[in-house]
Amino acid sequence: MSVTVKSASEIERMREAGRLLEIVHDELAKIIRPGISTWEIDHEGEKMIRSFGCTPNFLNYNGYPASICVSVNDEVVHGIPKKSRILKEGDIVSLDAGLIYKGFHSDAARTYGVGKISPEAQKLIDVTRESFFRGLEFAKAGNHLHEISAAIGNYAESFGYGVVRDMVGHGIGRALHEDPQIPNFAQKRRGIRLVPGMTLAIEPMIDAGTWEVEWLDDEWTVVTADGSLSAHYENTILITDGEPEILTLSH
Ligand code: CO
Repeated sequence: MSVTVKSASEIERMREAGRLLEIVHDELAKIIRPGISTWEIDHEGEKMIRSFGCTPNFLNYNGYPASICVSVNDEVVHGIPKKSRILKEGDIVSLDAGLIYKGFHSDAARTYGVGKISPEAQKLIDVTRESFFRGLEFAKAGNHLHEISAAIGNYAESFGYGVVRDMVGHGIGRALHEDPQIPNFAQKRRGIRLVPGMTLAIEPMIDAGTWEVEWLDDEWTVVTADGSLSAHYENTILITDGEPEILTLSH
């Protein structure tokens, strides 16, 4: 296992990769509405990433066929955009996006309600986002990685939610997926010690019901085993001497 520590100039490129990805998410948030297809979301996202002179890092990653993962309702992650998949009022939709700027990757996900959604769905979205921030409180030099994991998982589980176990957050930099893996629930071991210059993609995937998931026949789309709703929230962050810096979120 090799965890990379970024130099000052590498961090500058990671910051720009994150800043541009935040713009992509902010713009995509504006087009979410009943009647839009998941394909259109991917199309707009890819266009924007390329307009920045960046490369979509998910496209063709292990054969994934799109630039933005669009996962609806019981789809946890890696939903494949389709012209025939039309969002409707009351759905929740997770957008996971990433890009490469001057050789450095960024990765972030958001979950939105489509039109008016149920209070239960809104609570799942809010708790998933908040679980990221609970974890972030432990993302400090000298702490151990799994303090982040436990804080995320314990918070989400306190609502009776299922924390997805089959997929984890990850280091990020010159590659989309670097060491270490970052589980979203308490671990037996304490994990690596955090050092300034590490860049991490922390990404809780939280289910309203069971944590167990299944794969659809397209071999990408991950769904909850019990059909319950699922939400995803992710940012790329930088470990510093003090507070962590969220590279994909400035406001
Ligand atoms: Co990720």
